[in-house]
Amino acid sequence: MTFTANGLSAVRSGRTILHPTDVTLKPGERVGLVGASGSGKSTLGHALVDGLRGAGTAVAHVPQSPDEALDPLRSMAYHWREAEIALGLAPDASRRTHLFEALQIGHGDMRKRPWGWSRGMQQRFVIAMALIGTPGVLVMDEPTSALDPVVAAGTMDLLEDYLAGRQTALVLITHDLGLAARRVSRLMVMDAGRIVEDAPTTRFLAAPATRAAKALCAHRNWLQLPC
Ligand SMILES: Nc1ncnc2c1ncn2[C@@H]1O[C@H](COP(=O)(O)OP(=O)(O)O)[C@@H](O)[C@H]1O
Ligand SMILES: [Mg+2]
Repeated sequence: MTFTANGLSAVRSGRTILHPTDVTLKPGERVGLVGASGSGKSTLGHALVDGLRGAGTAVAHVPQSPDEALDPLRSMAYHWREAEIALGLAPDASRRTHLFEALQIGHGDMRKRPWGWSRGMQQRFVIAMALIGTPGVLVMDEPTSALDPVVAAGTMDLLEDYLAGRQTALVLITHDLGLAARRVSRLMVMDAGRIVEDAPTTRFLAAPATRAAKALCAHRNWLQLPC
């Protein structure tokens, strides 16, 4: 079984910002969606979420900043309950404990509002919320770019450990090839609203074929980065 969304496209203000695009994901697959800023990654991410949901797949989306996912006036407990309700799930303390342990946020005070938690903890909370319903596909748009590199790497490590052996496919959207290359086995490169390259990470790194991919690979120092 695979997850497929065909004919994804987007036009804004009369301009085509996403040309018709097909995406197929295998269960458990780790895919990076990379490309320069403005190449259309977020647009494809949203279209992919809508397209897969339309096809009946359970999809979770993690935005770049926890501010987009969390209401500053609501407690963390409220957010968690809302997420359960949205999925039609009864409260389940053991599910929450399990996810909080996986993301290492068990010490967080659920009565507090988002700003009572550090940003790193907020983003791990948002990731835990995304995993409540055991989605078939998890789309993360620059999930750690608002975090410092060490916290970002730690967050990705926790997520990777949690997903290991599970069937949830991950689409990691990032402008950071160094981050993606360490975390995914397949890379899709976007340029001007199109996927111009789609290859296993190892092949991509050894022999980038397109201009956009070569430009991404040109900065070789990323191998030394912690994430
Ligand atoms: N609502 C919109 N109206 C007009 N142009 C948009 C809109 N959203 C995105 N764009 C444009 O579409 C292109 C792709 O944007 P985006 O998907 O956010 O790129 P990325 O995530 O790769 O940085 C950019 O040129 C952006 O300016
Ligand atoms: Mg974006």
